[in-house]
Amino acid sequence: MQAVILVGGEGTRLRPLTSTLPKPVVPLVDRPFIAFMLEWLRAHGVDDVIMSCGFLATAVRDVLGDGSRLGIRLRFVEEPDPRGTAGALKLAEPMLDERFLMLNGDVLTDIDLTRQIAQHEATGATATLALVPVADPSAYGLVILEEDRSVRDFVEKPSSKELPSNLISAGAYVLERTILELVPADRNVSIEREVWPLLVGKGLYGFPSDSYWLDIGTPARYLQGTFDIIEGNVETAVRERLGSDWLAIGEGAQLDGRVVPPAVLGQGVRVAEGAHVGSLAVLGADVSVGAGSIVERAVVLGGTQIGAGCELRDCIVAAGCRIGDHTQISGGAVLGEGVNVGADNVITRGARIFPGVALPDGAIEF
Ligand code: GDD
Ligand code: MG
Repeated sequence: MQAVILVGGEGTRLRPLTSTLPKPVVPLVDRPFIAFMLEWLRAHGVDDVIMSCGFLATAVRDVLGDGSRLGIRLRFVEEPDPRGTAGALKLAEPMLDERFLMLNGDVLTDIDLTRQIAQHEATGATATLALVPVADPSAYGLVILEEDRSVRDFVEKPSSKELPSNLISAGAYVLERTILELVPADRNVSIEREVWPLLVGKGLYGFPSDSYWLDIGTPARYLQGTFDIIEGNVETAVRERLGSDWLAIGEGAQLDGRVVPPAVLGQGVRVAEGAHVGSLAVLGADVSVGAGSIVERAVVLGGTQIGAGCELRDCIVAAGCRIGDHTQISGGAVLGEGVNVGADNVITRGARIFPGVALPDGAIEF
């Protein structure tokens, strides 16, 4: 089976993590985010993936290579300019099979694609959209279904307050190649706004699912996705690494403090005497946590050094940062790559500190 993954967005809402890395290769738990999608696709028989890239395509290619490690043939299509969700598909036309999957490249899910493909075949659909319920559909594509699962209405980013359904498009589609006849070439075309409406009543179906689903596009949802992976709320390969004690600890880790599961610690991590890591913590390779420091409900990426007596909670710290003694980071704050924070700072309330910034001792308090 073939799949096209759309990864053209700039991921602006995930800055500063995406200031230095394209969203698909931002590390999530212990691997580039997109690896979770590729492993999920592989488990449902996908062996041929076309990545439709815009922004920083080379960086995506550098991290993923040709896919052979995952047993997938991986190809890349670069857009000369952003073509939109359907325009990007049009550019891949020469490579496409008669039937294929298309995925938004920013979702973490374990939707049963095998059953979705079976339904698509049984109904003779042109397009079958996976659907999931959400509390507030206004930021998504809202779908209203008939009894036979054909789509009665599709509204992208509905504005009205009273919404007649809580089912939204999950960004996972089974498509027939004939759909390309509806997509004009050489311009930006939105599949949500220009193609689905044309197909209503003419072969557009929905596949409702109650599987785990999350669009990881904001820091809060990135943290949520991290915790859901290490708590096993979504089916991923990380579950196996965690084993029955819900701890995955890389080679050469030196743990003199306490580690509370679930937690994932990369190779060479050092946790000093009296420090406390977890629960719900991810430390990348070679992270060091100083004496008496606390890291919980937090993600700290590779090589970051945390001083003594620090408190990190509900925050994301990118790779290669230095955090001075007695600094507190909390409240959804995000530090970009290589940030250098002196001692005795308080960083909170969703603060975002951009890559390479240096803050002297005692510079910030809330
Ligand atoms: N190649 C390419 N070119 N990819 C693009 C482009 C483009 O011009 N524009 C967007 N994408 C990619 C993004 O990188 C992302 O992976 C996916 O297409 C969807 O774009 P988003 O910008 O994340 O859209 P959204 O989240 O607001 O809405 C979409 O996803 C919802 C589910 O998360 C829609 O498909 C909604 O209908 C859906 O409910
Ligand atoms: Mg999205």
